[in-house]
Amino acid sequence: MSLNPRIQHWKGLNVWIVGASSGIGRALAQDLIVTGARVTVSSRRAEALSDITPAPFLCLPCDISQPESVQAAIDRLQAADALPDVVFWVAGVYHPMPSHALDLNGVRETFEINTLAGYTGLKLMLKAWESAPARSRHWSWISSVAGYRGLPQAAAYGASKAALTYLAEVTHLELKSRGIAVSVVNPGFVATRLTARNDFTMPAIITPEEASRATLDGLARGEFEIHYPKRFTRWLKFLRLVPYSLYFRIMKRTLPKS
Ligand SMILES: NC(=O)c1ccc[n+]([C@@H]2O[C@H](COP(=O)([O-])OP(=O)(O)OC[C@H]3O[C@@H](n4cnc5c(N)ncnc54)[C@H](OP(=O)(O)O)[C@@H]3O)[C@@H](O)[C@H]2O)c1
Repeated sequence: MSLNPRIQHWKGLNVWIVGASSGIGRALAQDLIVTGARVTVSSRRAEALSDITPAPFLCLPCDISQPESVQAAIDRLQAADALPDVVFWVAGVYHPMPSHALDLNGVRETFEINTLAGYTGLKLMLKAWESAPARSRHWSWISSVAGYRGLPQAAAYGASKAALTYLAEVTHLELKSRGIAVSVVNPGFVATRLTARNDFTMPAIITPEEASRATLDGLARGEFEIHYPKRFTRWLKFLRLVPYSLYFRIMKRTLPKS
């Protein structure tokens, strides 16, 4: 039984991708434009949005750390009669850091963008949807497997994604009765600007194009949690189930030698 309505036909649907200038969001935009969806793309870098091909329906530069910027983008969507049927909340930042050397500015930015901005976007979009004719909607949060359990170097990033996944679960439960389906996407490693700074071998790393296809396949199956690549994420899901004593013993081996 699927937990969400299956999205198998995108033609004519209004889609808003927040965080579309690079990586997974950009690949999603490119795939969806080809299906005939009316895709609006947002992120801070206007020039990076404007060279997406084929051209999106609308480019709305927006900084999600600024509520007035998010509201201005939603106002533009409303004015263009393009309030989204589907929102992909993709934008995120990554500041790897060990807990014995916290960079507090990095911690703040991580929570600001990866977590708090999600609350802002959701609140403002719900208000806009309420004032529009009722129809079924879908909100997809791009979270991360880093939120499953404590990982080295992920004191800020992993915690911000754990909170986002929690928000995804609550919103899935509570918004269904209002006609809003909610999914959460938990990628493993994807080769993007975000992971380019990792100086370790990333197991089972995939391309943004593969990530986009796996996301759309999961939505077509009506999944709540879309995770990939399975050869990596199933292993992490197993680690989520083991007792702390075993988990810490296994993870100790992944700590850098000091
Ligand atoms: N790559 C991975 O291995 C991986 C794994 C699990 C989860 N994820 C998640 O997937 C999502 C996409 O990441 P990615 O790997 O595709 O990285 P990316 O290429 O760096 O993309 C991040 C996107 O977020 C946007 N963004 C960042 N700050 C923003 C802000 N203040 N306002 C608006 N947009 C902002 C960026 O655009 P601008 O710079 O133009 O604003 C960019 O479009 C993130 O949420 C990330 O945590 C990635």
